[in-house]
Amino acid sequence: MIRRLADCNNVSDLRALAKRRLPGPIFHYIDGAADDEVTYRRNTEAFDDCDLVPNILAGVDDIDMSVTVMGQTLAMPVFCSPTALQRLFHHDGERAVARAAEKFGTMFGVSSLSTVSLAEIGAMTATPKMFQFYFHKDRGLNGSMVARAKAAKFDILALTVDTITGGNRERDLRTGFTSPPRLTLQSLLSFAAHPVWAFNYLSGPKFELAELKDYLREGSNDAISIGEYFTTMLDQTMDWRDAEALRADWGGPFCLKGVMSVGDAKKAVDIGATAIMVSNHGGRQLDGSRAPFDQIAEIADAVGDRIEIILDGGIRRGTHILKALAAGAKACSGGRLYLYALAAAGQPGVEKALGNLREEIERDMRLMGVRSLSQLNRDMLRCHARVRGK
Ligand code: LAC
Repeated sequence: MIRRLADCNNVSDLRALAKRRLPGPIFHYIDGAADDEVTYRRNTEAFDDCDLVPNILAGVDDIDMSVTVMGQTLAMPVFCSPTALQRLFHHDGERAVARAAEKFGTMFGVSSLSTVSLAEIGAMTATPKMFQFYFHKDRGLNGSMVARAKAAKFDILALTVDTITGGNRERDLRTGFTSPPRLTLQSLLSFAAHPVWAFNYLSGPKFELAELKDYLREGSNDAISIGEYFTTMLDQTMDWRDAEALRADWGGPFCLKGVMSVGDAKKAVDIGATAIMVSNHGGRQLDGSRAPFDQIAEIADAVGDRIEIILDGGIRRGTHILKALAAGAKACSGGRLYLYALAAAGQPGVEKALGNLREEIERDMRLMGVRSLSQLNRDMLRCHARVRGK
């Protein structure tokens, strides 16, 4: 049984430690996905359907795993996707992720549902930063969030496009998960069973959604489910014109998060997006939708020379990243891959997660016979016939 951070060699070990440390409803909010969680599982399993074909005798003493994406040079080809509610998982929340990402020279994303303000995060770190934008019905809120992200010197704006309504997250229905946690007998019992988490949560500064608090119902910190937030506060009329207008308003590198089809990838090019994150929101929205890795080659073939492609979802190993890059992605990102670690141990946990991945990438590059990531290509990847539908 995994008891210490030092014993965590991979994401699965970190998940086991997070499960011990967190009250059940919070662990299942991170770990769970939509409906039968088929897409969630497929996101990782998809990588097993393609094999790496290594080259040898390549002189691999010096390894360069840096990538440049959306104008940012990252010291490693994977970054921390924006994720919500981080102070629920660990009392340092976004601060811990920002500091760990900075140490590893990589980027991190901050959610519209962040629990630390953009201003504070902007002031504490110089590493590349992405602000994840939810398009609300309230245009005043949208405008002021863009202004706050600019003022805090965020580098990239990512508009999430796969949450037009709430996914059916049955684990959350079962546990009654809300933000902030609603105090029921069940949740109080699960807090009591995790006293360290409960002490840190209750003794720290009051939990709040830093960027939304002034726009939630006057003076209230009502417990809402994430599905309710998507369905009641986000604007279901959002379309390509809104995305284009947001890109123009932002004026800097702009990314659409949650593109899955070739047709939409082409439209992203047409509206002048810098990048797309090929993502199904960690399987948390449309169950039965295709995995990012299964889609990456056809998207890269269609638009890879006109837009940057980021594979977001399912990454658990360095080899997954090499496969994604060989198939045509410019970089990768992930949520759970660092969230379990955040929950398990705060900043040192996220550092452990990124450190494990960095070691794996370095070892895997040597074993593949590549000194730089730009050497990876389709010849180094063979996919099993059934994936290609042959
Ligand atoms: C989620 C949102 C908030 O997946 O990104 O829970």
